[in-house]
Amino acid sequence: MKLAEIKALYHEEWHSYTAAMRSGLDKMQEPAADASRKMLKAGDYLSDHMAEVPALLVFCFNPDHMAITDADLDRPSVVGGGSVYTAVQNVMLACRAEGLGCVLTTLLCYREDEIKQLLDIPPEWGTCAHIPIGYPVLRGHGPITRRSISKLAFLDSWGESVDF
Ligand SMILES: Cc1cc2nc3c(=O)[nH]c(=O)nc-3n(C[C@H](O)[C@H](O)[C@H](O)COP(=O)(O)O)c2cc1C
Repeated sequence: MKLAEIKALYHEEWHSYTAAMRSGLDKMQEPAADASRKMLKAGDYLSDHMAEVPALLVFCFNPDHMAITDADLDRPSVVGGGSVYTAVQNVMLACRAEGLGCVLTTLLCYREDEIKQLLDIPPEWGTCAHIPIGYPVLRGHGPITRRSISKLAFLDSWGESVDF
């Protein structure tokens, strides 16, 4: 079954990605250590149960169909992603509205060659997000913490906070 193969790839990448955090937990101060433990617990659950999700959306892109306006700048290009991640976000909002659980993941991009082979994705297409969708466990959607707008948006000059 393809989901089981995808889960195996994801499991490897998740544990490799979080190895340093796990080994450094003992030296971390609270409340950061507690936040990391919670993140690891949630991520471990996903990594252990990835093969059981009712649906896993794999978002693909073809660079030939995109206007990648920052491709020639002397920094990593991100504009191409804008052609796809808006759709990714819309799917996540729709899931939320339906009471479904989902999460944006990108770790499987490390294994793009294997994913493309597994799913028969044509050579000219790439992958940029993998969204497992399921029914929330425990209490479902809970409260979220986000930085305030005044820390995220500036007026006229970088660093000039907007007061709302
Ligand atoms: C670009 C991007 C890639 C991510 N990739 C992964 C991933 O591969 N695996 C994972 O468990 N979380 C990943 N995350 C984190 C989750 O999407 C999510 O932000 C995290 O679980 C915290 O959830 P919350 O923002 O709803 O609190 C990624 C986040 C972003 C922004």
